Amino acid sequence: KIKRIGVPEIRARKGGEPLVCLTAYDAPMARLLDPHCDILLVGDSLGMVVHGLDSTIGVTLDMMILHGKAVMRAAKQALVVIDLPFGSYEKSPQQAFESASRALAETGAQAVKIESGVYAAETIRFLTERGIPVMGHVGLRPQAALNEGGFKAKGRDDAERERVFREAREADAAGAFAIVIEGVAEEIARQITAEIAAPTIGIGASAACDGQILVTQDMLGLFDWTPKFVRRYAQLSGVVEDAVKAYGADVKSRAFPAAAETYSFKPKNG
Ligand code: KIV
Ligand code: NA
Repeated sequence: KIKRIGVPEIRARKGGEPLVCLTAYDAPMARLLDPHCDILLVGDSLGMVVHGLDSTIGVTLDMMILHGKAVMRAAKQALVVIDLPFGSYEKSPQQAFESASRALAETGAQAVKIESGVYAAETIRFLTERGIPVMGHVGLRPQAALNEGGFKAKGRDDAERERVFREAREADAAGAFAIVIEGVAEEIARQITAEIAAPTIGIGASAACDGQILVTQDMLGLFDWTPKFVRRYAQLSGVVEDAVKAYGADVKSRAFPAAAETYSFKPKNG
């Protein structure tokens, strides 16, 4: 039996070999990613990359749990983290506890992630003290897009830089076991990483972090919206397009299915 990576092993990687993290939303992809990843995040990005929403605002806790169950059926060794979606945790630590305990109990995942503005420190502490490991998420917080008119890198002025630092410090002090830093300049990510105890996981936040995460569909070239920080390790959209074009042509010319792909039952007493 494969042993699953736990929260202490993730914490112990602070300053060591960088943590390899990707998002996963379904069982077949989770099975492929699992042996190569330390953390699989069931991200609320699934609203955009799987369900076709314009932002993550419309994602529900039930959607997260459905996809979390699928990932947990296939992921055997990576630590699986479930994103708490917009509206499921911000109101109070109690509301967050109810959502987080459902997410863990119904999926079997080991941790939740919340987008952690400074206000969220109280919630991180409340959950952690009650046995729910929490990953923080600071800097560019996609669930705050309505206030900000879209997705914008953070830390361009002093007030913003100070806010990102505070978000990271407070999440760390409140007990977050790891903190995603999204969309900030390298020197901010480097300073935060040096200063806090929790490992930092960067997305658009330079190689100075203790690990990296990308949205799997971005990295595989399956989703066309790609910000500056994404590296495409494959261009699967082209592979899918070529395959479906060839299939369509074969169906129309009756080249598919061929004899080898066709049943022919011989009569029994022929
Ligand atoms: O939802 C998501 O995919 C995320 C990561 C990109 C950090 O929050
Ligand atoms: Na997210």
